[in-house]
Parts: sequence; C-alpha cells; structure tokens
Amino acid sequence: MKISLNVNGKPVTVTADDPQMPLLYALRDDVGLHGPRFGCGLGQCGACTVLLDGKAMRSCVMPVGAMTGKKIVTLEGLGSPGKPHPLQQAFITEQAVQCGYCINGMIMQAAALLQANKKPSEQEIKAALAENLCRCGTHLRIVRAIKRASELAA
Ligand code: FES
Ligand code: FES
Repeated sequence: MKISLNVNGKPVTVTADDPQMPLLYALRDDVGLHGPRFGCGLGQCGACTVLLDGKAMRSCVMPVGAMTGKKIVTLEGLGSPGKPHPLQQAFITEQAVQCGYCINGMIMQAAALLQANKKPSEQEIKAALAENLCRCGTHLRIVRAIKRASELAA
C-alpha cells in the first residue's frame, strides 16, 4: 500500500506491505533519511527519535500507517550543513560526539525541549535526556552543547 506522509515540510509517498511497519523503516529505506538510527528497535534507546507534530517520538515503535496528517521532522529537517540549527552547531562546537550513534536522538530530544523551554537549566536538560542512551559516555559534553544552543538561540 501507498502511504502519504509529510516529512521535513514536504509531501512524500512511501510503500509498506503492512501499516504496522515502523515509521523508522520508511524514513530510512523509502525516503533515504539516515539521521534517525536503528538502535534497539524497542523504544528504549532514543536513537531513532524524530519530531511528530513538535513532540519527540521514537520512530522505531510508531506504525507508519498512523502517520498520515502528522508533521514529521527528522535531523535533516532541523538545519543543513550550510545553515545548521543552533543545536547542530553547538554539538560541533562542543565536540559532543564520539561514535555518533546516539546523537540524532540527543539532538531531536533537545530540539523538542528547547521548543517547550527556551532556557532550560542543567537539571531540566538532564531530566529531558534521561531516557536517551549513550554508550560512549559523552553526556557532559552533550549537556554543555544543549546549554550553549539555548544561549545561541536566545
Ligand atoms: S531504536 Fe528506537 S528507541 Fe532505540
Ligand atoms: S556518542 Fe557514541 S553512543 Fe553516544
């Protein structure tokens, strides 16, 4: 079946044999967006996070068939290499990446946080990212980068 989606402000059509297929597969395999990562596939690590109508959601457990009519934003939709989002720039400036696997989720979760709270405290940043896993242990730099982005965007 064909399913219509709105991804990064553009209409796209994806194909799925089963409407229960995870949105993540459609984004990566059909739309060619590799910002969202497959980590656990169980909604537990955050690597696949996207914004759905402005809220951070785990695309590995969202059925693609339920996504019509929603505004989906991926890491690619936040900014571009020439015009990065303040979060993307701050992660570069703070060198907050080791292997990079978790970073899509960290940035997307932080983007949702900054939309709701433009000047979060360190505690609020840590609480918002508590369910995003990073096996490399770059948490301190990630928190610094989000703080920096909140200052850049202010
Ligand atoms: S891959 Fe979706 S939460 Fe881990
Ligand atoms: S930078 Fe490697 S998992 Fe976070």
